[in-house]
Formats: sequence, C-alpha cells, structure tokens
Amino acid sequence: MITLGIESSCDETGVALYHDTDGLLAHTLHSQVALHAEYGGVVPELASRDHIRRVVPLIQETLRQANCTLQDISGIAYTAGPGLLGALLVGAGVARSLAYALDIPAIGVHHMEGHLLAPMLETDAIQPPFVALLVSGGHTMLVGVEALGRYTVLGETLDDAAGEAFDKTAKLLGLGYPGGPAVSKLAQQGDPDRYTFPRPMVDRPGLDMSFSGLKTTVLNTWNKAVTAGDDSEQTKADICRAFETAVAETLAIKCKRALQQTGYRTLVVSGGVSANTTIRQRLTQVAEALRGEAFFPRPEFCTDNGAMIAYAGHLRLKAGQRTGLDFSPRARWSLEDLPP
Ligand code: KG4
Ligand code: ZN
Repeated sequence: MITLGIESSCDETGVALYHDTDGLLAHTLHSQVALHAEYGGVVPELASRDHIRRVVPLIQETLRQANCTLQDISGIAYTAGPGLLGALLVGAGVARSLAYALDIPAIGVHHMEGHLLAPMLETDAIQPPFVALLVSGGHTMLVGVEALGRYTVLGETLDDAAGEAFDKTAKLLGLGYPGGPAVSKLAQQGDPDRYTFPRPMVDRPGLDMSFSGLKTTVLNTWNKAVTAGDDSEQTKADICRAFETAVAETLAIKCKRALQQTGYRTLVVSGGVSANTTIRQRLTQVAEALRGEAFFPRPEFCTDNGAMIAYAGHLRLKAGQRTGLDFSPRARWSLEDLPP
C-alpha cells in the first residue's frame, strides 16, 4: 500500500510517498519563501498561483525518486484544512482528480493532525496517551491525545501564534521573513542578562497562552534603544535573546502544567517553531524533570511538508476512512471535530 501525500495549506508545496511497511519512500518540497519575502509575509493569491505551478512537477519528481509510477499508488492524502483556502483548493483539486482518474480512495487530512503525527514518521516509540504542543506560524495549542484521532484541545493562544510572534519580531528588527530562523540565529549572539521580557499569562491558571504582548515589548524596547542612539546589531541580538527566552519559558511552563494536569508522561512537540534549538532543549528538560520524555520531528519535518500528510492519510485510509470527492476544504477546522 503506497499513499501519495500532498500539502499546500500555506507557503510550501510538499509531496511524499509513504509505504505501509517500508515507511517514507520519498518526499519533495518547494518553499515559496523567496516569493513572499519582499512582502514580509505570505500573500495568499501568490501562494495559490505558485502551488498550481509546482504541484504536478513535484509529484513527478517524487515518483521518480521513489522509482514508482502513478499506478503503484493505492490512496491519496491531501491537506483539507485549516489554511489558506485558495492554496488548499490547489492540492485538493489535484489530489481528487488523480484519485478519480486512478479509481483509488482519497482522504482529506487535517493539517494540524499531520504536524501532530510527524514525530511518528521515524519512530514507533511514541504511544498515546500523550500531550502534544503544536507551535507553528498559524497555531499554538496544547492537545491531549487520548488515542490517534481522539484529541482534546487543552489550551491555545488567545491572540498571535508563537511563530507569528517570531515573524513579527523579525519584521520589526528588519531581519526578513520568515522570522523564526533569523531571530533564533541572532539570539545566539545576544547577552542573556541585558533584557528580561515578561512570560505572558503564566501566573493565570489554565493552559491558554498569549504572544501578542511580547511583540509590543520588542517594539517598545527597540524604539527606546533607537531613541538612545543604540540601534546596533548587538542590541538586536540582545532583544532576540530575551524574546526567544520568554517564548521558550512560557511554552515550558504551560507544557509542564499540561503534563501534570493530564498525568501523561510523553510530550510531543511539532510545527515550525519546534525546529528551534532553545525551545527543544527547554522542553526536553521539562519532560525529563517529570520522568517523562519529549519527542520532536527532525527539523525538515517540523515545518510544513508532504510526508506528515502522507503518513496521517495513510493511517486513516488503513482504518477504512475516505473523503468524498465533493468535500470542500476548510479554512478553519477544529482538531476536536475529527472522526476518531
Ligand atoms: O509549521 P509551519 O511551517 O507553517 C505553519 O503551519 O504555520 O511553521 C512556520 C513558522 C514560522 O512562523 C516560522 O518563523 C517558524 O515556524 N519557525 C521557527 C523556526 N523555524 C521556523 N520559529 C522559531 N525558531 C525556528 N528555528
Ligand atoms: Zn504547518
């Protein structure tokens, strides 16, 4: 059984082939980062246009790498939401046309379930129940995973996603887009003692989060430094360091609380921000201090990719699930609305 996975929810076109016994056969990715860079963020219309240019050549390339033909594919998984609607329509349209032509089943995958299962692509050591922290540019949420497909949202950001805060911080400091890797790189040269930024919402009970205040702290700190004539690279690095530490500490406090509240020992962290080394280290400490373990995908599977969609779709197809050819992708879609 080989599942073709197609991801097109935002600014990466990802394609992969997953085999039920041999695992991931091949995966390819086209990032639109360069296309959106001059606008400082993703332009939805440009994203859709680029997906349509890339998706079929990427499918051809992935098949070539895996030494397969279209006839070897037994099912097709595509990201059905949440995400940019025009971008989702491209992947869904191609996936379902192929499924119809090849007379094989199609399954619409929830993008966040793809992220959530990504760490399982390469290890079978992860078993539910566990707590999942999903941290990307569009989402920041803690999810209780009772079983595969049975998800309870324990808490989420009330405003910006953590990745969005990284991106806005980068934009403010003129570091370009996407901001996460740039902020993280500069933070390494930052003085850890120069600034301390607040850890938002940690003194309130519960597992909800907020990251928009941190962006305001960055803005005020930077403006003050500029007014004082101190707009150096070092100041930028010091601000990046304080910002990254505040995000890492906030996530650490909330993850600790979620593990204690559920009594689960395993923490699974995924989504673009989980590529961040400081955050990975800090969350590993949290899980280990509670005699548990933290799992992360390898960096290339932290950000959007086709492999996680192929894998999540493969599990659902194997369980006999199908998505009708008349299904519409959803810009908004709660993880809690998924069938088990
Ligand atoms: O999962 P993803 O590729 O797309 C969404 O579904 O949002 O996540 C992209 C986000 C961006 O906000 C990006 O700045 C952030 O992940 N990111 C990082 C790092 N690498 C990517 N944030 C912090 N540190 C990183 N190393
Ligand atoms: Zn994502």
